[in-house]
Amino acid sequence: MPLVTSKEMFRKAYEGGYAIGAFNVNNMEIIQGITEAAKEENAPLILQVSAGARKYAKHIYLMKLIEAAIEDTGLNICVHLDHGEDFEICKACVDGGFTSVMIDGSKYPFEENIRLTKQVVDYAHEHGVVVEGELGRLAGIEDAINVSEKDAAFTDPGQVEEFVKRTGVDSLAIAIGTSHGAYKFKGEPRLRFDILEEVQKRLPGFPIVLHGASSVVPELVDTINKYGGQMPGAKGVPEEMLRKAASMAVCKINIDSDLRLAMTASIRKYFGENPGEFDPRKYLGPAREAIKAVVKHKIRNVLGCSGKA
Ligand code: G3H
Ligand code: 13P
Ligand code: ZN
Repeated sequence: MPLVTSKEMFRKAYEGGYAIGAFNVNNMEIIQGITEAAKEENAPLILQVSAGARKYAKHIYLMKLIEAAIEDTGLNICVHLDHGEDFEICKACVDGGFTSVMIDGSKYPFEENIRLTKQVVDYAHEHGVVVEGELGRLAGIEDAINVSEKDAAFTDPGQVEEFVKRTGVDSLAIAIGTSHGAYKFKGEPRLRFDILEEVQKRLPGFPIVLHGASSVVPELVDTINKYGGQMPGAKGVPEEMLRKAASMAVCKINIDSDLRLAMTASIRKYFGENPGEFDPRKYLGPAREAIKAVVKHKIRNVLGCSGKA
């Protein structure tokens, strides 16, 4: 089974009213936890790598680990660059064997976003690689992206047809109220499904991507807080909202924070109960299992892509 693009995955997901999970990977345990879950669920899978992950683990290590996972599990996997910020990083990932890249020009004015996105699309398509673009800005903080709430902006549905037509992107990330990280809503969670509906109307059959889609699983936050962590007020996107988005035009749902929480909760609990242990396998093994459990839950109960590989 090979590395694949997301083209066929998205076509089936759109038709079937489900979404593919795009899970962020940073090391071996995370890759193993996710791919073992996808194999047991027989689910299509996107593994995504951020600039921060490439810096932390190095491109070649992640690529070789993913190749090993493909050989080990027999899964078709799409390897995607998450939030590529310029042409150079997108090119490096295309040249380095990724099958999909995101060019995140959402911080630029419309015309500049189009110019940059088209430049990436032209190069990627020449090499058989698909491209995700973004219109609208999510609030939240990652390594390379730091968008304050006041700078966040919902996607303007009036721009999407022109953006897709002029850039040639294969999928489009939109901002409808989700945000990155573990603190997504101060009050009640609210997503702008009206914007998603309007986008879907204007781009029939076209795959939409939802970033910032962790649920910030309450039980994981409780475990972290119980074992010495401090995450008061952490809140994510309710699962029923994600299921609704997956039944609409959203074909790719990005999840990173829930994996971080699963890993951290497991390790904190382990040390709470085994303060004298110092063999990394003793705490990384359960952390890998915790990731596997959360990914299985997402595939089955949130994304709806179990059995769709
Ligand atoms: O949306 C971004 C992902 O959560 C990756 O975060 O840049 O800290 O690796 P990172
Ligand atoms: P979360 O922080 O909600 O997991 O979002 C991850 C993401 O959008 C990666 O691109
Ligand atoms: Zn994102």
